[in-house]
Amino acid sequence: MKFAPLEIGPVRLENPVLAAPIAGFTDLVFRGLVRELGGCGLIYTEMVSAGGWIDGRIEPRRLDGVPDEPRPLGVQLWDREERPLEEAARRLVDMNVTVIDLNFGCPKRRIMGKHAAGAQLLRDPATVGRLVAATVRGAGATPVTAKMRLGPSVANRTAVAVARAAVENGAKAITVHGRTADESYGIPCRREQIAEVVDAVHVPVIANGDIDGPESAISTIRDTGAAGVMVARAALQRPWIFSQISAALRGEAIPAPPTLLEQRQLLLRHHSLVVEQYGDPHGTVLMRKFACRYLGGTSGARVFRDHVSRAEDSTDFRRIVDHYFPVEELEAELLAG
Ligand SMILES: Cc1cc2nc3c(=O)[nH]c(=O)nc-3n(C[C@H](O)[C@H](O)[C@H](O)COP(=O)(O)O)c2cc1C
Repeated sequence: MKFAPLEIGPVRLENPVLAAPIAGFTDLVFRGLVRELGGCGLIYTEMVSAGGWIDGRIEPRRLDGVPDEPRPLGVQLWDREERPLEEAARRLVDMNVTVIDLNFGCPKRRIMGKHAAGAQLLRDPATVGRLVAATVRGAGATPVTAKMRLGPSVANRTAVAVARAAVENGAKAITVHGRTADESYGIPCRREQIAEVVDAVHVPVIANGDIDGPESAISTIRDTGAAGVMVARAALQRPWIFSQISAALRGEAIPAPPTLLEQRQLLLRHHSLVVEQYGDPHGTVLMRKFACRYLGGTSGARVFRDHVSRAEDSTDFRRIVDHYFPVEELEAELLAG
């Protein structure tokens, strides 16, 4: 199976494998590591409140790194008002970002309820259209994309109407997470409904949900007809997953995953970069949630997670990693082959 590069308006992505926006995770350090590990066509920031930023209510740390880091880079905005989205898009153009994405999928009560934004907007395709149009006015030649779920609820699946409204108003690609906002991760994604969106619009559709390696990426593309895939949770556990999926889509041999020793090195480097960025102990506290996801599936992983989720500072973090993943043992395992 061979796949074409993905074109989002004027932007051509060599690998049709995208790293999802993940609030609390896809900060500049994580984005840098994903780029280094290769295979990712485009990576997004965490969702940023356009109104909070434009009206000065927040100083978005989520935009740290954005002006200077390598391209391509996508920034995701959320809001339910046109004015802040248009202005935020203008500012992002000045920062030379590659793609501006709009969030129509967040199911969190605070976003859907208090702010009537995120997946709440799936109830109202006309408003989605106006928000996309406003963002496109601010974005000029920079492509605007939309990321959505299948609808606000199982009883109200609006993805096709919302996607059409977004595209009619200038969206250059649509990402669909194959669940409704009231569906938990326990329920499998509905690929056939992603396929309905693919059939309904003339721009590339990126399929998202439950992709955890080359096989599920290929079967998702086969079942949906999507032009690309987006990965979220699996990338937190295995940030090298993009190189494996991209190789498989190119019909090449899938690179072996890093050895446990290499995973240990990656974890420690991630920690030191986070501490460099945020200081210690704050950086170590931020790193706990990443560390709990790395090294999954190994024999000591559960106890390791239990301890590392309480690491207090860099010394403590290093001690816990040394205890559960001692270099000498990992090297001996490698030699034993
Ligand atoms: C902790 C967490 C934070 C997320 N934050 C965002 C976000 O900021 N913006 C967004 O569009 N989706 C967000 N998502 C949803 C993911 O991008 C993705 O659509 C979803 O997890 C399904 O993909 P997966 O099965 O590969 O995880 C988040 C998901 C998780 C688990």
